[in-house]
Amino acid sequence: MAKDLSLIALATCDYDSTMGVGVLDDSPILKPQDLAGKKVASVPTSGEFPFFPAYAERVGLAAASIEFVHVDNKVLDRVLMEKRVDAITSFALGSASAMLSKGVPSRWMLYSAAGIRNHGQPIATRRKTLEADPALCESITDGLLEPLAYTLTNPQNSLELFHREHWAWLVAARHRSPGSARARAGMVRPGRLHGDDRPRHALPDGARSQAARSRGDLHQPLYRQDQARRVRLDQRPRPGLGIRQVSELNNAFSDPDQRSRDMTTQMENELLTRVGPGTPMGTLMRQYWLPACLSSELEADGDPLRLMLLSERLIAFRDSAGRVGVLDHRCPHRCASLFYGRNEEGGLRCVYHGWKFDTAGNCLDMPNLPADQDFREKVKARAYKVAERGGLVYVYMGERAVAPPLPALEAMLCPPDETSLSARQRECNWLQALEGDIDTSHFSFLHTGKLTIDDIDPNHLERFQFTDRAPRYHARPTDWGTMYAAYRPAQPGHLYYRFAHFAFPFWTLFPNGPLADNVLAQGWVPMDDTHTMAFTFSWTRKTPVLSLNKRGEPLPLLDRVSPTLPNTADWFGRWRPIANRSNDYLIDREAQRTISYTGIAGVFPQDSAVTESMGDISDRTRENLAPSDRMIVMTRRRLLEAVLALQDKGTVPPGVDDPEVSGNARSGDLIAPEGQPWLEAYEQTLRDALHPVMALAAE
Ligand code: FES
Ligand SMILES: [Fe+2]
Repeated sequence: MAKDLSLIALATCDYDSTMGVGVLDDSPILKPQDLAGKKVASVPTSGEFPFFPAYAERVGLAAASIEFVHVDNKVLDRVLMEKRVDAITSFALGSASAMLSKGVPSRWMLYSAAGIRNHGQPIATRRKTLEADPALCESITDGLLEPLAYTLTNPQNSLELFHREHWAWLVAARHRSPGSARARAGMVRPGRLHGDDRPRHALPDGARSQAARSRGDLHQPLYRQDQARRVRLDQRPRPGLGIRQVSELNNAFSDPDQRSRDMTTQMENELLTRVGPGTPMGTLMRQYWLPACLSSELEADGDPLRLMLLSERLIAFRDSAGRVGVLDHRCPHRCASLFYGRNEEGGLRCVYHGWKFDTAGNCLDMPNLPADQDFREKVKARAYKVAERGGLVYVYMGERAVAPPLPALEAMLCPPDETSLSARQRECNWLQALEGDIDTSHFSFLHTGKLTIDDIDPNHLERFQFTDRAPRYHARPTDWGTMYAAYRPAQPGHLYYRFAHFAFPFWTLFPNGPLADNVLAQGWVPMDDTHTMAFTFSWTRKTPVLSLNKRGEPLPLLDRVSPTLPNTADWFGRWRPIANRSNDYLIDREAQRTISYTGIAGVFPQDSAVTESMGDISDRTRENLAPSDRMIVMTRRRLLEAVLALQDKGTVPPGVDDPEVSGNARSGDLIAPEGQPWLEAYEQTLRDALHPVMALAAE
């Protein structure tokens, strides 16, 4: 309360009136419009951040013209003082005084000067007003506090409200971006679906040898932009290398509290996990081809399939000619669900009034209208592009007129008769499911915590997992995503490595045998924010996984095949494991006491139990991340980097136009001499490894 003013406080609330844009006192930025083309740092979780779009609009500033850099609160003032950015958005009261205390004066353009209202500061009145009309004071106070109370008592709703507004602004900003406009118009390296992306075995001879030549270039650098900065085994990989700009800025300071920088904020968690239409991550995922269902789930003229994908309700069907269509489930006439449709004679016919649609969404028939009123050529069902390869149906839900190439991970390109492909549902958000695959230290606990070195064949490569359950890690960004190697001592003078990868947007390659032939990939495809379908490719001629003890007996409760319930027509009725949340994964406490760490049978259900138990969407602000989570931290940053670059600059995310960059990604185990750099050991093993795709192409 201001000194000497005869006011009496009624209440206080959180925001104040000093929100604004700060520049250094000697900055050439004199008015808000001068911010165009400048670099501005913000803390996305700061209370003032949501007000900037309204401010920009009021002062006639094109928000898309600003290069935004999201930074941690701890370094906000410092990035301005060190002139790493041209301006910051902040609460002037805190930032200006903090900078002044270091002898750095600043100037501020306050949002309030543009008429941005904020309900804040102490709510006060004069004593005589309060005495004369207490009811008025009360109702004014209630009115001002109501939004604050709503926020405090409905945090989730408030957050959604905030995101809806904020995203609307981001989406609008992106639409103004020339890069994005090009992408939407299909002008960014249009797709090559019918070129190099056909299965290798389907290529004619000339093309096969071309494919073999291009596959011969398998050992290109892992991360082209970073080739000159290769790390050695005895050097720690640089944190944040090649990651989004925010990381570089944050890591530019020797903040002793590394753990707090690694933490995921609520805002970041929302950005990472929400995939519906219009959300930043949903927009990123719609840049790629997405696995939708197994080819075997659709029969010619068979039952239409309810397909939930990125929170969109779709209907998949295979027409009489064997073509697959994926349509919005709502009929474009009056929105009856096409699930009840008749799949017959080259199309799907809505049972309400008989309108019929082909796989491209064209209306073929309007039988409830007289011929002179027929307008079928003007009506189209919303249809997504579809491709089928290797027993999997892919859908492209993006906006390009010509779709990008199909993904090209090694396991997807193996001969179909040597590839096992399966689908299993996980009842939680896609990211926490995926993070289980890039979290290697859990294997020695969750899956094999009860096994000892005495149980394992003394020649088995994976035996070192049981002599040391606390590995150390290398991790680094790659062109296709991120990779890590967990390492621990092997025989004297050697290290045992386990390599794994994340590839955009949701693929993992996890260690499940020797790197020499461990050809596999797993996609964690979001059905919606809280349901995920895992599609797993595995080369059937790879070394069998660890499943027997040294006497050749099955290791207890370590089955890799997890049985599923019969599929139903429900939106979430496909590929549900029998052991699921509703039955506590059939946990057997006696087995847990005696033969198994969890008492849960099967690797997939064991993973389901822990990842689903985190909640529908894990609250990552509650985590205490450790060095063993280094790959997870790096992957989240890499994802956020791509999401923000797409939003802010229209940057096409990694691998969309050049999926072949993932040709260097292979997971698995190896043993290397202690002095050999880890990436060199990786590349050497890969060079000498079995390559089923190359072999196929060279046939
Ligand atoms: S609602 Fe589908 S034909 Fe009328
Ligand atoms: Fe696991």
